Amino acid sequence: MTEQDFILLPYPNTLESGKITWESPSNIALVKYWGKKKDQIPENPSISFTLSNCKTITTLSFSKKENITNFEFDVYLDGEKKDDFKPKIQTFFERIEIYLPFLRNYKFKIETKNTFPHSSGIASSASGMSALALCLMSVEKQLIEKVVPSSAPDCYRDETSSSNEYFNQKASFLARLGSGSACRSIEGDLIVWGKTNSIEGSSNLFGVKYPYKIHDVFKAYQDTILLVDKGKKQVSSTVGHNLMHNHTYAKNRFQQAHDNLEKLKTILESGDLDGFIALIESEALTLHAMMMASMPYFILMKPNTLEIINKIWKFRQETGLHISFTLDAGANVHVLYPKNETSEILEFIKNELVAQCQNGHYIYDQIGFGARLIKN
Ligand code: DP6
Repeated sequence: MTEQDFILLPYPNTLESGKITWESPSNIALVKYWGKKKDQIPENPSISFTLSNCKTITTLSFSKKENITNFEFDVYLDGEKKDDFKPKIQTFFERIEIYLPFLRNYKFKIETKNTFPHSSGIASSASGMSALALCLMSVEKQLIEKVVPSSAPDCYRDETSSSNEYFNQKASFLARLGSGSACRSIEGDLIVWGKTNSIEGSSNLFGVKYPYKIHDVFKAYQDTILLVDKGKKQVSSTVGHNLMHNHTYAKNRFQQAHDNLEKLKTILESGDLDGFIALIESEALTLHAMMMASMPYFILMKPNTLEIINKIWKFRQETGLHISFTLDAGANVHVLYPKNETSEILEFIKNELVAQCQNGHYIYDQIGFGARLIKN
């Protein structure tokens, strides 16, 4: 697939107005995306668990307009108009217009809500951008559904066709242009993004389902997210990615991500929990090490992040349980563990770790299976 495959023209149908709702989950990377080239192309491959409970629900209403000089849209979060979200969506529309040429023909109302608290420090860009991309894909689908041009893939002819794959791929492709990690939120349960030799079918343009055997222990993995700091981050991910240009360790880091994906294949197949823990914790700390070694340098972990990590290590050593952590670009800690160890580990989290969370807040989540159309 190339970028050109995502341009479908002309649209045979006209649509006056409509309303679509999608819900889309967040995801947590095991091998991290950190560093990107032009047009949201990642410098290295990444793989993530799709989450189940942390979701964005977006309703897109649209009505035809005459003036096509500008994009017209309003954004609401929990019913409240959010003009500060508009620049990001404006940039998103500019990037995807070539692939969705109807964007200037409609006035859009984007109503969104998250299942996790706003400003919890949980990245809503992955779930938010993927939900919006899916809503826009549903509009395109309606625009070409009845009279289908010969260039259109099968999914536009037959709802049940296996080439729903094209719909998902284009949704992931568009979501990537909104926020890189968002391309891993369309499907579940393990998604790879970024071309790498060890994963057949992997692409820099969109996320693909991990295609190899996964041991049962990884099929119901748990993620309890400890909200250490709910404030706005001092340095955004986009700025952090850009600091990987000319970074002293960039070349080695990008190679390490390829190597880790290769290693993870064996781990995922065999159910090697110790190997899994070592790999994902090293990935999390490497991500933050890259931030600390950037110029300018920065630190997103907080004292309580380190306190939690040390407690996890001590508890693991004492009990032999398979508790581990990963981090995204912030201070919060994702505590990962297999389902069959849930009761002991949750008790430990509640007794020992929740005290380090801001206002004692944490979110219970687990591996999930991707986005869902709620209403068309
Ligand atoms: C540390 O996807 O938020 O969470 O593409 O600039 O929107 P943009 O960045 P974003 O970066 C996420 C980085 C990460 C690692 C990961 O999810 O792989």
